[in-house]
Amino acid sequence: MIAYLNGAYLPPEKACISPLDRGFLFGDGVYEVIPSYDGKLFLLDAHLERLGRSLAAIRLPDPMPDGGWAEMLERLLQENPGADRSVYLQVTRGAAPRDHAFPGQASATVFAMVSPIAPQGSAVAGAGVGTITVPDLRWGRCDIKSVALLANVLARQQAAECAAVEAILLRDGLLTEGAASNVFVVTDGVVRTTPLGPAILPGITRAFLLEVLRAGGRDCREEPVPEADLRAADEIWLTSSTKEVLPVTRLDGQPVGDGRPGPVWREALDRYRQARYRSMHVSGKEATHD
Ligand SMILES: Cc1ncc(COP(=O)(O)O)c(C=O)c1O
Repeated sequence: MIAYLNGAYLPPEKACISPLDRGFLFGDGVYEVIPSYDGKLFLLDAHLERLGRSLAAIRLPDPMPDGGWAEMLERLLQENPGADRSVYLQVTRGAAPRDHAFPGQASATVFAMVSPIAPQGSAVAGAGVGTITVPDLRWGRCDIKSVALLANVLARQQAAECAAVEAILLRDGLLTEGAASNVFVVTDGVVRTTPLGPAILPGITRAFLLEVLRAGGRDCREEPVPEADLRAADEIWLTSSTKEVLPVTRLDGQPVGDGRPGPVWREALDRYRQARYRSMHVSGKEATHD
């Protein structure tokens, strides 16, 4: 694997970062995860726009304006050929003597690496996945894609210890999102997801899925989802750039709906995949379930 660090393309074991890097000391940085299919980055503009918003929110000047991101990411994919991959990209405020306030002088650290995207797999999609609920203990700016992820890490670990794939977060009796995903619920054919705001990450997959479902005539509402509605939902889905649209069939050990992936999820995944292929201009390839 070839990674990117501050202008160089090199094996990750040769990539060195100072222990004074503020990403290491304070979690003072932001990140993105961008999927690529058949060597092409999917929804790159939306990811770069969100990166720009995250950088602005933490007052870190963009270290690669003017098309530099796309050029670097494309070169990195060429260095790591393969079919379905995701690029992890991180920007921190750089190395400086340890002090909470911003350093007078520091240049941002930019790191990127490529990983395979695990296919959803017919077994997973066929059976769906198990989840647990946990209290949302995160800070008040979950809309920033910050590398400071300790609460998410602890929530996901709790899920792993229950053999669940994701922790679904609840705050003040309402659904927020997953530890690393957005959450959708379906009740009587109506799709609902938490509205945008500081309580959730504005997921790129969430936005794309809402658009394609609405274009297909499905009633989709961005409104608060009470915990009781989550527990009584006919269907629950998780969305993220690497999970796409994943059906949840168990919540805290109880079946969701009839305990199987539902018909609205099938419609959603089909529409999502078809729109994905269309938007990437890949011809001669049908969207299918893995
Ligand atoms: C907390 C959180 N919410 C939602 C998402 C989904 O975002 P996207 O669809 O942009 O991958 C992620 C992705 O990692 C996440 O970490």
